[in-house]
Amino acid sequence: MLDTTLKEWWKSAVIYEIYPKSFQDTNYDGIGDLPGIIMHLDYLEHLGVNAIWLTPIYVSPQKDNGYDIANYKEIDPSIGTMEQFDELVRLARERGMVILMDLVLNHSSDKNDWFIEASGSRDNPYHDYYVWRDGTPDSPPNDMEAVFGGSAWTYVPAVGQYYFHAFSPYQPDLNWDNPKLRQELYDIVRFWVAKGVGGFRLDVIDMIAKEPDIKVTGNGTHLHEYIRELSQEAFREDYLVTVGETGSATPESAKLFSNPDGSELSMVFQFEHMHLDGGKDKWDLKKMDLRELKQVMARWQNELFEKGWNSLYFENHDQPRIVSRWGNDGKYHDESAKMLAVMLHGMQGTPYVYQGEEIGMTNARLKIEEYDDIEIKNFYEVSVAAGIDEDSIMESVYAKGRDNARTPMQWTDGPNASFTAENVKPWLPINPNYTEINVDNELVNPDSVLNFYRKLIQLRSKYSLFRTGSFTLLDPNNEKTFCYTRDSEEDGHMLVECNFTGEVQPEVCPELFRDAEIILANYKDPHGPLRPYEARMLFTAAH
Ligand code: GLC
Ligand code: CA
Repeated sequence: MLDTTLKEWWKSAVIYEIYPKSFQDTNYDGIGDLPGIIMHLDYLEHLGVNAIWLTPIYVSPQKDNGYDIANYKEIDPSIGTMEQFDELVRLARERGMVILMDLVLNHSSDKNDWFIEASGSRDNPYHDYYVWRDGTPDSPPNDMEAVFGGSAWTYVPAVGQYYFHAFSPYQPDLNWDNPKLRQELYDIVRFWVAKGVGGFRLDVIDMIAKEPDIKVTGNGTHLHEYIRELSQEAFREDYLVTVGETGSATPESAKLFSNPDGSELSMVFQFEHMHLDGGKDKWDLKKMDLRELKQVMARWQNELFEKGWNSLYFENHDQPRIVSRWGNDGKYHDESAKMLAVMLHGMQGTPYVYQGEEIGMTNARLKIEEYDDIEIKNFYEVSVAAGIDEDSIMESVYAKGRDNARTPMQWTDGPNASFTAENVKPWLPINPNYTEINVDNELVNPDSVLNFYRKLIQLRSKYSLFRTGSFTLLDPNNEKTFCYTRDSEEDGHMLVECNFTGEVQPEVCPELFRDAEIILANYKDPHGPLRPYEARMLFTAAH
C-alpha cells in the first residue's frame, strides 16, 4: 500500500476523479451523494487507486454544478453532511486512500455572502474582494467575453459599477490583488487540511492574477507570485498533493508551476492535447491527427523530465469520453478503451482516471432539453441566434458537450443502472448502453476494460520505471501507431506499442525488445503486426 504521508507519494499514485452528483444516489432524490461514495470505497480500493478527487461539494446554487461556491466551509445539503464527509475521509484512509478537495479560488458564487455584501455598497469592506470597474449601464469597460457566453462584465445598479466574471454572471471573479481576500482563502485551505484531506485540485488557478483591463485572464503578471504565496501560507504540509488546472500552461510555465523545489504546486493539468480536435474553440470540430498528438505528448514528457511533473489525463468532468473521442465505441470498444489507457498510463506523470473511464463509458446523445450544462445551453442559444443550423450545433454538442462525461455512473444492468432507485428520475439521463457497459458485468469478466485498468494500475507500483524512466517517441511520422520507450539505467526499459486504427499495422519493435517480457496486452498472443487497436507493453530489465 502506498504511504500517502510521504513527500512526493503522488509520483507513484493513480488518482480517481469523482463527480459526486453522478456517482451514486443513496437517498433517492436523483442526485449522487457522500454516502454513495462511501458505499463504493471497496470498489475503488479494489481498482487500486490511491487518491480520490471530488469535484466541488460545498454549498452552492449549482449553476455550474458546484463550481459556484456560496459557502466554502459547508457541504451542500444535496450532497450530504459534514459528518458524512468526516466519515468518508476516515474510511478512505482505512483503505489507504486520501480525499482531494476541489478548490475554486478564482471566483465564488454570486450568492456567496461576500458578494452579497460587496454588491451592496462601494464602502462595504467586502467590496474589494471582487473586481469592479466604473461604467454606465450600457457601456461595459471593454468587450471581453465570458467563457460561458455573453459579456464578462455585469452591471450592479446599487454600486453603479460592473463586476468582472470570466465564466458566467453567477461566478464573480475574486480580486487576488487584495491581501485580505488572499488570507481569507488560505484560511479556507487550512480548514480542509485540518479535516485530514490529502490535497487539492485547484480550479482555473492560472486565472487568479487576472488583468481584465488589458484582457488578460491566464498567466497574469502576479500569477507565480500569488501561487508561491498560496503554497507557502496554505500548503504547509509536505504530504499534500496540489494539482492546478491551467489552461494557459506551456511546458515553460509548467516548469514553474510544478517546480521540483516545491515552491508552487505538485503538478498541473495542461490542455494542449485536448485542443487537437478543435478549431477556434472546442465546438469547431476537427479530426485529431495522431502525429500531432504524439508530438504534443512527447514535448511535455521531455520538457518536464526532471524539471517538473506531468498529470496524465484524457477524461474529466469537462471532457467527452475518450473511447468515443479517439477510440472506437462500436466494434472495437474494449480494445480501443484499453489501448488508450496503455498509451496514457505508460508515460511519466500521475495518471487520472475519471469515473466510468475504467469501464469504458461512452458519450451520450441527449435531446437538447435534457441537457443540464450551462455551457451547452449557452452554446446552443447563442448558435441558434446566430442562425447556425440545428444539426451542426448538435453534432458539436454530441462530440464535445460536457454532459457526455456527467451521465450517471453505470453500476449494473438493473433499473437506472443502480445509480438510483427504479422510480426516481436521475438529475441527468442515464446512457442507454448501461445494460452492456456496467461495473457488475466487468467485475466478473476477466477480460473487461475494468480488469485491464486494475492490472495497469498494479504495474505502476511494481515497476519504478513508470516513475523514473525517460521518454523516447518512436516513428514520429507514423499516423496510425503511437509507440514509445521509457528508459532508465537502474530500472530497465519499457516499450509501449499502440495501434490507433481499425486495421492491422506493422509493429515497430527496436532490437532491444526482441526477447522482452510482455507485461500487458489487450489481445491474446501478442506477437507480430498490431491488430486493430492492439496495445502492448514490453519490459526488459537493466543490463
Ligand atoms: C473549470 C472546471 C469547470 C468549471 C470552470 C469554472 O474549468 O473544471 O467544470 O465550469 O472551471 O469554474
Ligand atoms: Ca441523493
